[in-house]
Amino acid sequence: MNSTPSRSLLSIEGMTKSDIEEILDLTDTFDEIGRRPIPKVPALRGRTVATLFFENSTRTRLSFETAARRLSADTMSFGAGSSSLSKGESIRDTVEVIEAYGADVLVVRHPAAGIAQRIDNWTDALVVNAGDGCHEHPTQALLDAYTLRKHKGSLNGLRIAIVGDIRHSRVARSDVLAFTMLGAEVVLVAPPTLLPPSLEGWPVTISYDLDEVLPTLDVCYLLRMQNERISEGLIPSVREYTADYGLNIKRSATLPKDALICHPGPTNRGIEIEAAVASDPRSVILDQVSNGVSIRMAVLFLLLGSGRKLGAASELEGGQ
Ligand code: NCD
Repeated sequence: MNSTPSRSLLSIEGMTKSDIEEILDLTDTFDEIGRRPIPKVPALRGRTVATLFFENSTRTRLSFETAARRLSADTMSFGAGSSSLSKGESIRDTVEVIEAYGADVLVVRHPAAGIAQRIDNWTDALVVNAGDGCHEHPTQALLDAYTLRKHKGSLNGLRIAIVGDIRHSRVARSDVLAFTMLGAEVVLVAPPTLLPPSLEGWPVTISYDLDEVLPTLDVCYLLRMQNERISEGLIPSVREYTADYGLNIKRSATLPKDALICHPGPTNRGIEIEAAVASDPRSVILDQVSNGVSIRMAVLFLLLGSGRKLGAASELEGGQ
């Protein structure tokens, strides 16, 4: 999928518009399978998908594991807290052990930017980056693009604001690349201290004023404050942040009626989003969650079933 020699999925950077569209088109097929009474196909029988999470996760990990099982792959799960890492074993040794148990794909989340690429260099298994520090989270961007495309028909010409802690957000990085590649216009809305130190090369505009931007939007994408990555006082107080940048009921009334509200989760209700706004009919936050499974089925299938172009669900039924 990437233009790197490996077929791993490490970042949106390096992917082309048609790579992304191929995944989104295939996801429709898996979305249909997910809605069947028995949402399972034998496509990846005999293959093993390992999740290696060195950072906490609910959605990403469960959705990859669900996706793998729906494709009849075996799953293996490594959690840093309960492993021999706590006895001093290195990540490289850990990767070698998991590979020796027969993993075909390693789905990796880690607080260090660039680690998915390093692991990809160490192993013959395919690697999927499920979030590396502040760098990228490609499958989140794919599921976000899929969700927007489903609701709006296309991302072409959409005006999307990404609001909040952009500085520490791998989701923002991947989303900006994917959304703009698909023809959307992206405006980043944040206090200056929560923007990356350099935005050179980012195909975006900047605003510090959420109230001004809201009425102009097709999509308002809120980010979680990444407290675990904020080491210095970048905002005067959470209260002030919420007053200026939180999406509350009053503010959401200025958002167009057909606009969408997104959030990658987990949400800090009462900080970046008021609880009642999360249940606004314009909110597609739960759709993002369920589309996460279908997108990850498509990604796993494309990685492990490479070389096979699939146009119809019936081609999946025979398995391998
Ligand atoms: C995001 C992440 O981990 O980067 N969550 C997710 O994958 N759904 C966003 C976040 O943690 O704020």
